[in-house]
Amino acid sequence: MNITRDIFDDVMVPNYAPSAVIPVRGKGSRVWDQKDNEYIDFAGGIAVNCLGHCHPALVEALNEQGQKIWHLSNVMTNEPALRLAKKLVDATFADKVYFANSGAEANEAALKLARRWALENFGEQKSQIISFKQGFHGRTFFTVTVGGQAAYSDGFGPKPGAIEHAIYNDLASLEALISDNTCAVMLEPIQGEGGIIAPTDEFIKGVRALCDKHNALMIFDEVQSGVGRTGHLYAYMGLGVTPDILTTAKALGGGFPIGAMLTTTDIAKHLKVGTHGSTYGGNPLACAVAEAAFDTVNTPEVLSGVAQREALFKTKLTEINAKHNVFSDIRGLGLLVGAELNETYTGRAKDFLNASMEQGLMTLVAGASVIRFAPSLVIPLADIEAGLERFEKAVAAIVNA
Ligand SMILES: Cc1ncc(COP(=O)(O)O)c(C=O)c1O
Repeated sequence: MNITRDIFDDVMVPNYAPSAVIPVRGKGSRVWDQKDNEYIDFAGGIAVNCLGHCHPALVEALNEQGQKIWHLSNVMTNEPALRLAKKLVDATFADKVYFANSGAEANEAALKLARRWALENFGEQKSQIISFKQGFHGRTFFTVTVGGQAAYSDGFGPKPGAIEHAIYNDLASLEALISDNTCAVMLEPIQGEGGIIAPTDEFIKGVRALCDKHNALMIFDEVQSGVGRTGHLYAYMGLGVTPDILTTAKALGGGFPIGAMLTTTDIAKHLKVGTHGSTYGGNPLACAVAEAAFDTVNTPEVLSGVAQREALFKTKLTEINAKHNVFSDIRGLGLLVGAELNETYTGRAKDFLNASMEQGLMTLVAGASVIRFAPSLVIPLADIEAGLERFEKAVAAIVNA
């Protein structure tokens, strides 16, 4: 069968608008399409491919597990799931792990757990969930309603209730909403989809203090920021604040779908047998690959290499901006870098993404005016330089158009 982009419009639900390019293979931070055109990948499948494409350790783990056992369901447990859970617990604040298949599912579990914890400890009135405008937590109806963009949750009928939104980096806005009836505050330790917004020290510590004051759980959605992305295994480790529940997905599987919710024994005990579950959660193939990804990322070399790569990105982007004057801000933590377009180019991030593709570079956007870069954590420095040369050509093409 000759596969073309047109088939997408014929047979796929139209909720996505994919590029005309169909990639067919990848190696490290390079990707090739059907016509053998080569691209440098600064998108990483939206902050998923933390070790690039087809990393040998991940390929080996997948092949090895593929010869052993693929699936069991949670009627049985399995070795890869237990090994991975043990490593996650040993490396973080958490004592207990729940496995899911995606970020949204990990967040759904976190929110249900928080509600159950509050109900059983304090009673029905403690059900309010507070999250933040421009936040993103996934697309199930609960998580998309907790997310801070009504445009994503409107139009599907009655929404789950008792969910309110404060303003990120504005502690007073949280203080105005929070009370003893708040069961949880959910936030990203750096907003990703919302525009690469890092928290101020005062804000993130203030959120923790307000949660403590009102006996509310602090849930960190580390779906995008986790597994080395910020140069720490989890972003909370660099912020000096420990959450009560943490969710992780995306880079956890390095490209194989998996998500997890991490918490303490005392909170976890409220998800008793039968309260929640998933057929595929903890699937042996997913956990075997995730274990290999985790072992590879959680090393001083990889984690310290992120800071070096971040510095190169920011220096080069600053140079590009000095020449072409397109950005009002270059920001981010680790290899989650955002370049916000200035007034002249506001709303045109997609144009920069498309122009980059024409130069052989995959990038991302975060909202209408921020270009986002989330490459492999081990991308060679030479690939960063080559990719940013392509990016500069894309910028020049737009500026000179
Ligand atoms: C912070 C955050 N949470 C949750 C999600 C949802 O993850 P998934 O698409 O795997 O359900 C995303 C995806 O972009 C995300 O960035």
